[in-house]
Amino acid sequence: MVKQVRKPLMAGNWKMHHNHFEAIQVVQKLAYRLEADDYDRCDVVVCPTLICLRSVQTVIESDRMTIGLGAQNCYFEEKGAFTGEVSAPMLAKMNVQYVIVGHSERREIFGETDEVVAKKTRAVLGAGMTPIVCCGETLEEREADQTTEKVSGQIKAAFHGIKADDIAQCIVAYEPIWAIGTGRTATSQEANDTIGVIRSVIRQMAGGAADQVRILYGGSVKPSNVSELMGMPEIDGALVGGASLDPDDFAKIIKF
Ligand code: PGA
Repeated sequence: MVKQVRKPLMAGNWKMHHNHFEAIQVVQKLAYRLEADDYDRCDVVVCPTLICLRSVQTVIESDRMTIGLGAQNCYFEEKGAFTGEVSAPMLAKMNVQYVIVGHSERREIFGETDEVVAKKTRAVLGAGMTPIVCCGETLEEREADQTTEKVSGQIKAAFHGIKADDIAQCIVAYEPIWAIGTGRTATSQEANDTIGVIRSVIRQMAGGAADQVRILYGGSVKPSNVSELMGMPEIDGALVGGASLDPDDFAKIIKF
């Protein structure tokens, strides 16, 4: 509804790119290209790989950058015999503020179910961080007119049983799977319509919290299409993959 009260947020999802030397350089270059009023207008977040979080966090803090730090995933248990996993409290202890939860690559490649996504959402909130909960339909689902059903189901599952106040703190990213890394963007109208559906589902679950939740679009966001997307009333920012790897492109997106 009242978009002005929701500050735009641009999050860079670096996926499995950039080793820790490259990650430091990229965040430094990005900070060099941004000015105070960019941060006033827009929250900026980078999500490096797990092993780069420490180095990026050190650079962000020592240079007093206004860039938020996000992880791409975590496990829902606090600790224990879960070889290869990292918990939400461990990330929070390292001043990580955001965690991407339920990205379609996690769902499709690593078999994360709606139930796992719900547990991770709770774990991230429980550790005092902000989940960036991802949802989105496949091309087949879109063509079969199942987009609303698919994303509504994902959102209901992720936020089931979570208090409205906590839901208000969450971020959602609508990422149609057919638009991720394909160069094919949803039209701004398609993205806006589906995000409107997501907001109405959140309104059914959490009332007025729906006006606070920032809902991002993701899927082939580039400097050339970001302004049109950001001109839509429901779109509060972007989760950017490929174009966030290059600090020049990501800075242009932030300055949309
Ligand atoms: P893309 O990825 O911008 O490379 O399409 C977006 C995402 O998967 O978050």
